[in-house]
Amino acid sequence: KIWDDSKEASMHIAQSIALAIRQKQQDGEHIVLGLATGSSPIKVYQELVRMHKKEGLSFKNVITFNLDEYYPITPEAQQSYVRFMNEHLFDHVDIIKENVHIPDGTVPIESVKKYCDQYEKLIDDYGGIDIQLLGIGRTGHIGFNEPGSWENSQTRLVRLDNMTRTDATKDFGREEDVPYRAITMGIATIMKARSVYLMAWGHHKAPIVQKAVEGDINSSIPASYLQQHKNVRFILDKAAAQEL
Ligand code: GLP
Repeated sequence: KIWDDSKEASMHIAQSIALAIRQKQQDGEHIVLGLATGSSPIKVYQELVRMHKKEGLSFKNVITFNLDEYYPITPEAQQSYVRFMNEHLFDHVDIIKENVHIPDGTVPIESVKKYCDQYEKLIDDYGGIDIQLLGIGRTGHIGFNEPGSWENSQTRLVRLDNMTRTDATKDFGREEDVPYRAITMGIATIMKARSVYLMAWGHHKAPIVQKAVEGDINSSIPASYLQQHKNVRFILDKAAAQEL
């Protein structure tokens, strides 16, 4: 779906999420949201915060799992996804802190495998992800599933692509300060979500959006796997859609 601009598109996504939250509330059930970081989802979170403050949208029945986190990184670090999520969403709504899950960038290396398996299992224990938000990296990554990621991959420790580390330099200041690794949900974890929204805004995303939507499905463009998902929407502004 192509929108004139990212603000309008983001409001539409936020409204869909709010509707789903409210429907589950009426049924006395929880809802599981898979959340993304980066610049792409910021306006969606702004709109959800606005709805909480102005329209009484409650997050008491919301369980969240974030896609990824740098490794290693402390939650207090300026660039941590814990800090990002608190600043953009969690600190401003009534979500129950115990319901928030973000991969832990401080897990000792020898325990990472076990930690990732537990993260994956916890998602299943909550009944799986109802709505998954995604951005897309210029490498075609979703979460931090870089080129070479397999379709059956689950939550795990990964090595970041050089292009991703270059793009992250704007946040870290110097490229040598960007972590080499990250913990990310896998392609299989994402594909299990019942509904997926991938957002892309701006000209710089147009070439990778074209490959992800119209190109071959394979591990060189991990986002291309989404073509096989039964309920996925690519939400684009005009600039990101210009090569389709
Ligand atoms: C990071 C995140 C991804 C995100 C990507 C795109 O690499 N780990 O989940 O999709 O950035 O970022 P942006 O939305 O800022 O373009």
